[in-house]
Order: sequence, then C-alpha cells, then structure tokens
Amino acid sequence: MAAKILIIGACGQIGTELTLALREKHGEKNVIASDIREGNDDLMQSGPFEKLDATNYKAIEDIVMHYEVEEVYLMAAMLSATAEKFPMRGWNLNMDSLFNVLNLAKDKKIDKVFWPSSIAVFGPSTPKNDTPQTTVMEPTTVYGISKQTGERWCEYYHHKYDVDVRSIRYPGLISYKTQPGGGTTDYAVEIFHEALAKQAYTSFLSEETALPMMFMDDAIRATISLMEAPAETLSIRSSYNLGGISFTPKQLAESIEAEIPEFKIDYEPDFRQPIADSWPSSINDEQAQKDWGWQHEYDLEKMTKAMLDGLKSLK
Ligand SMILES: NC(=O)c1ccc[n+]([C@@H]2O[C@H](COP(=O)([O-])OP(=O)(O)OC[C@H]3O[C@@H](n4cnc5c(N)ncnc54)[C@H](O)[C@@H]3O)[C@@H](O)[C@H]2O)c1
Repeated sequence: MAAKILIIGACGQIGTELTLALREKHGEKNVIASDIREGNDDLMQSGPFEKLDATNYKAIEDIVMHYEVEEVYLMAAMLSATAEKFPMRGWNLNMDSLFNVLNLAKDKKIDKVFWPSSIAVFGPSTPKNDTPQTTVMEPTTVYGISKQTGERWCEYYHHKYDVDVRSIRYPGLISYKTQPGGGTTDYAVEIFHEALAKQAYTSFLSEETALPMMFMDDAIRATISLMEAPAETLSIRSSYNLGGISFTPKQLAESIEAEIPEFKIDYEPDFRQPIADSWPSSINDEQAQKDWGWQHEYDLEKMTKAMLDGLKSLK
C-alpha cells in the first residue's frame, strides 16, 4: 500500500536519495519533498516540492493537512562540524524540528515518524570498538548532545504518547549523487572527487582515525526496512546502532590506490580531528539484525568501486 510521505530536509545528502527511493516505491505524487532551499534536478522534477522551514510548526501542519500526509521523515539538521561553529543555532534547529514532528504525531495528525540519530551520541568514555547498543553515552559535541537528547525524547514520546517513531544512529554516509552537508566524515566523500580530479587528497583527519561508515545505498535500504518493519518487532525506540564498514583514511586511500595507482594522500588534521577522536571506531548492530533483519551489503572494496564508477558516470 502506498503511503503519503513528507520528507523535511529533502535536498540534503541523505534526503535526496531517500526521496527518490521512496518515490520509486510509493509513487511520485505520494512523496512530498520539502526543504528551505531547492534541490537538484532529479529531486525537483520527479514529484511535489514545498519550501518549508522545519522550525515552523504551523507551516509543517499546513502541508501535512493539505497532502493528508501519514509519515514524516525529518532529515533537516545542522551537522557535527557546522554545529561546533554555531552551537545555539545547531541546538535550536535540531531540537525544535524534532519537537514539531513528534508533537504532530502525538496529536495523531501523522501516523509514523523517522528521525535520524548518529554515532555522535557516543563520546570519549564509550567503549570505542564494537560499541554496544546500550552503553555509556557522554557526547562532547553540540551535535552529539542534540542527537542524544533527541533519542531520549523519541523514546519518551513512544512510551508516554504511543508515538510510532523509528530511528537509526547513522554512521558516516558515503554517496556520489549528492555532496555531504558539513559533517566530520565528509573526508570519505571528498577523497573520491579529488582522486578522480587530481589523483591526490589532503585528509583533514589523521591516517589512523578509524570511524564507522556506510555506503548510501545501504543507509537508504536500512531506513526503508526499519520503517516497514512491524511495530511489535521493534525493541528500540530511542535509536538503533548501525554498523556498516569501519576504516581509516589510510585504508580508504589504499583501496582507492588499488583502482587509481597514481593516487597520493597526505594528512593535515584540523578542528574535526578531536570530534572524530571522541567517536567510536566500530559499531555493534546485533539488535538491528535481530529485530528487523538488518545486514549491510557494501564492504570497503565494493564501496570504493561503486563510488568511482558512480562519479565517472556523472561526468
Ligand atoms: N550524512 C551523514 O553522514 C549523517 C550521519 C549521521 C546522521 N545524519 C543525520 O541525517 C540527517 C540528514 O543528514 P544529511 O547528511 O542529509 O544532511 P544535509 O546537511 O546534507 O541536509 C540537511 C538538509 O536540511 C535542510 N535544512 C536545514 N535547515 C532547515 C530548516 N530549518 N528547514 C528545512 N530544511 C532545512 C538543508 O537545506 C539540507 O538540504 C540529519 O539529521 C543528520 O544529522 C547524517
């Protein structure tokens, strides 16, 4: 059955591909994209688009009523690196937008909510390797604090008001169709663009910084699978760990070198290094496997090939 879906923040790195995947599945007219800015041609031309500010409750409510929206995917946020520069703006956007959508669900104006969390909910005191679903969480970034707080509110709204909210702690996402939006893992996308353009890249993270990452196709599949899972199978209403692949800039460079032998990398860590140092190196996602059958498909080699082939195909 096709659902009526609103995506808020649809023109970003994830929203763009998510919108196209959902339009394919539910029909173009049933998936309304919205953002404060316009998106790329594929997004703008494939279905309805509305200019919408996620911090404006009334404006979201009007669109929900007008299109008889049943499900909202809230992708608007300020990401980790940018939020360190504008802490209060990051906090306000990330929290206000979430409350707006949770309150619409609480008032039964929508049936289901997807809201993304992040590996940034973890901090330096969290076990770094194979980080469990439930563990110490003392995030040290504005972004991480907003995501952890958001998780607590999602669980609260579920238990207290029976809101059907579902969430994933995305790792760093790697895609070729859209650019990343100011996160600490952006190096893993930039490196592919520079490898093709200049056969060289200067990484803003040090060579041994291992972080959990995922190819966008896997992340989109995970998001849609979680939203389609029967409610009674879901034991987590804060946010699910999602593992994916874990690698360092050095390992990623070696994987690119296998395809482009003349590729060279050097390292100039900047303000994003301490953010990365506070995050896990790898994530345990057994709960997602158990509850909704999650399994990632892309390893480092397969992702490298997909990124290089994908970027070449856009030229
Ligand atoms: N990309 C990643 O690696 C990653 C990892 C973990 C979690 N996440 C989370 O996934 C979600 C989407 O991330 P993304 O990478 O696509 O981000 P992005 O920055 O690429 O896109 C966010 C979109 O939100 C829009 N936006 C900003 N303010 C808005 C407002 N007031 N109203 C409406 N739209 C607004 C922006 O114009 C942009 O198109 C975010 O919640 C982010 O925290 C992303």
